[in-house]
Amino acid sequence: MPSLRTCVFPCAGFGTRFFPATKVIPKEMLPLVDKPILQYGIEEALGSGLDKLIIVSSKGKDTIIDHFDRTSELERSLKERGKTDLLAEVDAVSSMVDLITVRQKEALGLGHAVLMAHDAVGDHPFAVVLPDDVILADDPCLMQMRRVFEETGRPVIALMEVSQEETSRYGIIKGEEIRDRVFRVRDMVEKPKVSPPSRFAIIGRYILPPDIFPLLEKTERGAGGEIQLTDALRELARSGEFYGYVFDGKRYDAGEKLGYLKATVDYALKHPKLGADFRAYLEGLFGDGKAAGDSRPPERRKNDRRRV
Ligand code: UTP
Repeated sequence: MPSLRTCVFPCAGFGTRFFPATKVIPKEMLPLVDKPILQYGIEEALGSGLDKLIIVSSKGKDTIIDHFDRTSELERSLKERGKTDLLAEVDAVSSMVDLITVRQKEALGLGHAVLMAHDAVGDHPFAVVLPDDVILADDPCLMQMRRVFEETGRPVIALMEVSQEETSRYGIIKGEEIRDRVFRVRDMVEKPKVSPPSRFAIIGRYILPPDIFPLLEKTERGAGGEIQLTDALRELARSGEFYGYVFDGKRYDAGEKLGYLKATVDYALKHPKLGADFRAYLEGLFGDGKAAGDSRPPERRKNDRRRV
């Protein structure tokens, strides 16, 4: 079976759901606690054994590449000032990965963005990670999917069980569970308004064969005038075995404001250096409702309560 080592990160969208913050700053560069959103996806891919990483970017998104580049002046300055801890942190990011970049000149949709990576991917299976779908998991989501791919040699998409009401916000699969967490996917419906075929939603992780490229090439512009990846996936699912994997972990849509806030809280609580203090802060905030916006020290607030 051809080995899997390539991962494509489509980063060329406009990020309109996060305006105005993402008017100039790419949403992939918004910090989730102390790392840009994209770095979590890069670490997930590297942690899943993928080492050829391709960024599909667009005009104004060069900071994405700069983040993973060397910053010689900064590094020299930190070295001269003996800031070895900071230097190590900066160095870890610069030496993490050598990225390949391709451009999507017009935002013609996710399917089109993936198609732009065709030459860089070549004739091999590859993974796709949507960076704003951030996944908190002990075992990286892509690694979980990779095991199914290595066993079957067939396409695998990540699935998440959602409530009946939420099905209208996702691509939903039609298929049957063949064993714990593994679905044979027969078809998929984009944001079904009525009668969803299941409650299993497609989220932003895919392992695909190169056969997807000719399908994308002939995919007509669909919803919103965009070339939809789902349309090509449907073709693929109809033409042969195609699997879905209900990953173990928690997914956040960090490309929209509420999802980003939830991710920030959960990642901050898990942060090795900040977690304990942040938890204490939240407990203060919710344990005694007066903490929020009250600049007085806790002793003074307690006195207040006694008077009441
Ligand atoms: P989204 O719909 O989540 O991202 O696309 P968006 O278009 O940037 O955001 P909104 O909806 O306007 O807020 C899913 C992924 O596909 C990429 C996006 O960057 C995101 O990672 N994408 C989307 C492209 O690379 N090119 C496109 O033309 C469209």
